[in-house]
Amino acid sequence: MGSVREGQYKSPRALLPTGTSRGGRAHPPTPLARALDALLEATVVGSFSRVGYLARRAAEGWDDPPRADGKVVVVTGASSGIGGAVALALGRLGAEVWVLGRDAGRTEGVAEAVRSGGGRAEASVVDVADGSSAEAFAERYRAVHDRLDGLVHCAGALLGGYEVSGDGFEMTVATHVLGPYRLTWHLAPLLESTGAAAIVTVSSGGMYTERFDIGRLEMGPERYDGVRAYARAKRAQVVLAHEWWRRWSSRGVASYAMHPGWVDTPGLASGLPFFRLGPLLRRPEEGADTAVWLVTGAARSLDLVEGAALAPTGDGFWHDRHPRGEYYLPWTRPKVELDVQGRKLWDWCATRTGVGSDDDQ
Ligand SMILES: NC(=O)c1ccc[n+]([C@@H]2O[C@H](COP(=O)([O-])OP(=O)(O)OC[C@H]3O[C@@H](n4cnc5c(N)ncnc54)[C@H](OP(=O)(O)O)[C@@H]3O)[C@@H](O)[C@H]2O)c1
Repeated sequence: MGSVREGQYKSPRALLPTGTSRGGRAHPPTPLARALDALLEATVVGSFSRVGYLARRAAEGWDDPPRADGKVVVVTGASSGIGGAVALALGRLGAEVWVLGRDAGRTEGVAEAVRSGGGRAEASVVDVADGSSAEAFAERYRAVHDRLDGLVHCAGALLGGYEVSGDGFEMTVATHVLGPYRLTWHLAPLLESTGAAAIVTVSSGGMYTERFDIGRLEMGPERYDGVRAYARAKRAQVVLAHEWWRRWSSRGVASYAMHPGWVDTPGLASGLPFFRLGPLLRRPEEGADTAVWLVTGAARSLDLVEGAALAPTGDGFWHDRHPRGEYYLPWTRPKVELDVQGRKLWDWCATRTGVGSDDDQ
């Protein structure tokens, strides 16, 4: 497969699709909607806050994401916040949802809420930062299904201090990078078997502040900085999402990284307690919207993706149903080609998790 080179990167404007999706079909946004979107994006607060979601939805006339009847989707971090809202939305759209969380009671609570909304759901207790837990889940899933239509990586947390996972890795990188890498590797054959599956990684706008640098990805206990560790891991999630696209899109597995904006969740309240924006914060279902829209395959109908369906582009960082630029600060631009970054990160993850090292694509 070819590679996406730095110089080939399109501007955020050029990355805008020719249309937004209404029920999975592309319709061109009006010039006014385009101008409003650009204005919101330029202000950051306008884009990330609830204002951005409401204004874009109204101006572009968003419909519900496409129906997902007959599809099976696994959602991590689904016991709370955005992941919970993703699970509920997918259940309403007809998908069978596998609700993954660490706390048995809260995970079953979300699964029950999906069922009482008329959907189908299975609850599973999984700590994504723990290799044996993720592996046990993959086995349990394989015993029930031989296909998987969607995988949403939502598990995440901004930690106040240095912690180590059961496998001995710094917890932020274990939860956001190594965990998704390992779980996806175990489930990849099932994703491939559907012919049109999607992986969606819920990253964060916080990643805009950090450059991808594999040497500084896993922070040590000395002078640990939780916000910086989080931003680096979230940047690495975007690199990993592109690498999945590069490796697997030709086999029918799309991979998208997105950010939800600023969302009123228990995770935000505990991770950034001073970040009190009140009514400007999005509701969980609003933060979840783009992840649901992507995993149900809506972006496949856009010219941007359709035109490059078999090409390993997979670039852009999705927010509010549009791919956005990945670098707003000059020093965060990569120094090496994107596929080199991706391969390096893959090897780094393979060495630490012990899976995927023989996948030499
Ligand atoms: N809220 C925002 O403004 C915002 C902005 C940008 C990105 N995000 C991202 O959105 C995602 C969801 O966050 P949220 O705001 O909805 O926070 P949340 O309400 O705290 O939800 C986070 C979920 O991740 C789970 N989780 C954390 N570590 C895990 C692990 N090792 N294994 C399995 N599950 C784990 C949590 O489980 P427990 O309940 O057991 O802790 C919870 O279900 C995160 O990736 C976050 O980084 C959020």
